[in-house]
This record gives sequence, structure tokens and C-alpha cells, in this order.
Amino acid sequence: MSVQVIVGSQWGDEGKGKITDILAEKMDLVVRYQGGNNAGHTVVVGKETFKLHHIPSGILNDSCVSIMANGVVLDPEVLLKEMNGLKKRGIAVNPSKFKLSSIAHVILPFHKTLDSNQESNREGEKIGTTGRGIGPAYTDKIARFGVRAMDLLKPEFLKKQIMKKSWLTGIGVTEKDIDDVVIEFHKYGKELEPYIIDTSLYINEAIKAGKRVILEGAQGTMLDVDHGTYPFVTSSNPISGAATTGTGIGPQLIEGVMGVTKAYVTRVGEGPFPTELLDETGEALRDKGGEYGTTTNRPRRCGWLDLVVLRYAIRVNGLTEICLTKLDVLDGQESVKICTNYVYNNEKVEHFPLDLDVFNECEPEYVELPGWDEDISKITDFEKLPENAKTFVDYVEQAVGVKVSMVSVGPNRVQTIFKND
Ligand code: GDP
Ligand code: IMO
Ligand code: MG
Repeated sequence: MSVQVIVGSQWGDEGKGKITDILAEKMDLVVRYQGGNNAGHTVVVGKETFKLHHIPSGILNDSCVSIMANGVVLDPEVLLKEMNGLKKRGIAVNPSKFKLSSIAHVILPFHKTLDSNQESNREGEKIGTTGRGIGPAYTDKIARFGVRAMDLLKPEFLKKQIMKKSWLTGIGVTEKDIDDVVIEFHKYGKELEPYIIDTSLYINEAIKAGKRVILEGAQGTMLDVDHGTYPFVTSSNPISGAATTGTGIGPQLIEGVMGVTKAYVTRVGEGPFPTELLDETGEALRDKGGEYGTTTNRPRRCGWLDLVVLRYAIRVNGLTEICLTKLDVLDGQESVKICTNYVYNNEKVEHFPLDLDVFNECEPEYVELPGWDEDISKITDFEKLPENAKTFVDYVEQAVGVKVSMVSVGPNRVQTIFKND
């Protein structure tokens, strides 16, 4: 498949980084199309663990070009640190291997201040943002006074553009503060200049030349600003459709959409979560799955796999295949539950209700499948999985009608099962 989208089908942290890294082995380009350093994609290569926030998960493959396309928001200081950190660990990060869109929007220090101020002002209904300035940076983009990567190279224009933000006075920013930021960010711009290109042109030409491309999503379907659990969402569109606006390629070029789906569900931050487990089973999943945020280290809320959410993700993303991750974390459970539908007002609910008040009141109904005792983390052949683990995967596949093409049983590259049709 020459252009494929990889998208999270839940609330993020499904294992997109691991899966992208593995598939990148056979790919030429890996492109991030939205989100910023709110993302934390962990890739384990042998004994080394890499936590990527901005840079696409293709960077660890020597043959891959990694691209941050126009739909992302970037914090240049964080990006430069990430680039230097990788270089220090022997990973090649140079202008032929890594590219940044000239029209990607920039997160300024003021956006981070506003993000945290807004969060503290949301008495009683916090979103639990990552505090990285993501919401304010995207807000300014839509309001048409954002700063784009190429603007960092034009200090006078940069200052003019920042001065348009009337909200700055409200958070106590002075003209001197702005001048300081202009000097600092112009410096970052000069450092990043060799990497800054027209990424839409580059990606389209690569596709024409027969190159194979992964469009790597960040966050997840239920955090999508349009289709997620609004307002408990991020400020971009993680769903597959955004891979076209976020890169500047036509939708007809996309040949497949893989939904990365954890064998249970996690969520960081606030917002409804019908299958959440507030008991020792939830704690056991958190412990075994190492469910602590890659970006903020917050404990992730854990619960059973939710097929209402997965069916919704299939619909809004047009998923053509599913990669089921972290199946090994369910090892040792006496039985494993899967939510098949909700009940609201004594009625069966099979589709994700858009009204959050309804979603909040939905009670999950479960099918309970027998668990397995074996450690499956070293199994690489689907047929060798314990019968009950196979039944779990088959159940999901049949219940949602989309093939599970990969199963992940550990963080390492080798802990991956490619499932035959
Ligand atoms: P992403 O944001 O979707 O890329 O996911 P994260 O990297 O934030 O979180 C997934 C975590 O689970 C990371 O620590 C991965 O190393 C780890 N991981 C990925 N796949 C598996 C798996 O199949 N089993 C286990 N046990 N860990 C996994
Ligand atoms: P990856 O790519 C999980 C959550 C935050 C918060 C909400 C809004 O690693 O899957 P924001 O800072 O984006 O304004 O926060 O979205 N969130 C994520 N949760 N994984 C992520 O990224 C996330 N990025 C943002 O916790 O609830
Ligand atoms: Mg993550």
C-alpha cells in the first residue's frame, strides 16, 4: 500500500508510535499531519526507548524521511531539543532525513501561559490539557493571527503578527516580552531553516515517484475536536480525513486507514469514559501496561475495550484494518470483558451518542470471555496464541466487521504478530 494513514481509535496512547516504527521499515516517508508536542509516541528498539513528541516515528529507520507537515503545531525549542537528543544517541537527523513544513504553525510561550491560565479558570470542569499551548496555538491559527514556521525567518513580520494578538495584554505580556520572544524565535528559525520546505510539494512528488508513505496520526478519534467527546478533546482533528488537509495531498491518494486499538481502553485527562474501571482490575491494567502518560507522566485511566467507540472510529475514519495492541497486558486475567453496547434510559445504544449528557449516563453492557494464564509476549505466530486469546481477537474482528491485521504483544519491534487473512 503506498499511502496509508495510521490513526488512534480511542483516546490516544494506543501504541501508534510502535506500530508506525515497525511499518516504517518498508516505507519511504513518515508524515505527522496534526497535533503538537501534546503527543508522546514511545518506540522501543532493542534495549533503547525513544519518546517522540514532535518528530514522526519513522526517524529511527535509516531509510525513512520524516516530515512534520502543515497541520502540526510546533514548539521550536522542544523540537530542537528533540532533534539534538536523537543526534546524541546516534540517530541521523539532517535536512535530507527530516523536513518541516514552512506553513506549520508555531507555539509561542504566550500560548503555554494561556493554556495553563484557561485550565485553572475552568472551575470544576477542567479538560486536563497537557499544558503545551496546543489549544491557544490552533485558536490563533484559525483566527488568522498565527505565526508560521517561515515567519520565524522574518523578525519584523513576526513581531507584527504577534502584536495582532489582542489577548496578550490580558495575560500581562508587554512589548518588551514580545521583543524578547522575537529575538529568541528568530534564532530558532535560523537553526531550523535548513529543514523548512514546502512539504505538500515534496510529499506529492514522492508519491508520484512511487514512494511509500505513512501518515502518522497523533492523539485519537475520541479526542478529535469535531468528532470526539467535546469539549474534552484536543484542538485538532486526529481522524484520517485530516491527513489530507494536514499534508496537502488529495484524498484519492489514501489507500488504507489502520486503526490502532488497545485491547483495553485508557484515557489521560478529564471527560466521560463509560468502561472505566475504578477498582483493582483498573489498577492492575495500569501497572502491567505501564499506563502513565508519555508526555506528562500522569496515571492513565483504564477500562475494558469498548466496541461502541471502536465502531464509531471505524465509521468516522473509514478504517480498513485494525491493529490490536497490548494484548499481553490482559495475560493472567481470569476473564476479560468487552463492551458490546450501552444502555441509556433502559434502551440499548449501539452508536456513540453525540450528546455528552447522554454519553455520561450510558451504562456499558459486556460480554465476558474467558482469560488466559500464559505469557504471550514472546509469541510471534497468531496460531500459537492461547485459544482464549485468539477467541478474544476473533470476537473483536467479527463484532466490528473489520479485519485485525496485526496484534502487538509487547513494546519491542519483535513483539508483533502479522496476522494472515
Ligand atoms: P502512542 O501515543 O499511541 O504512540 O502510544 P504511547 O507510546 O503513548 O503508549 C503506548 C505504550 O505502550 C508505550 O509505552 C509503548 O512502548 C507500549 N506498548 C506499545 N505496544 C505494546 C504492546 O503490545 N504491549 C505492551 N506491553 N506495551 C506496548
Ligand atoms: P498521543 O499522540 C493521550 C489529551 C489531554 C487532554 C486533552 C486535551 O500520545 O496519543 P491538549 O494538551 O491536547 O489540549 O489536551 O487531550 N491528549 C492526549 N491524550 N494521548 C495523546 O497523544 C494526547 N494528546 C492530548 O490529556 O485530555
Ligand atoms: Mg502517547
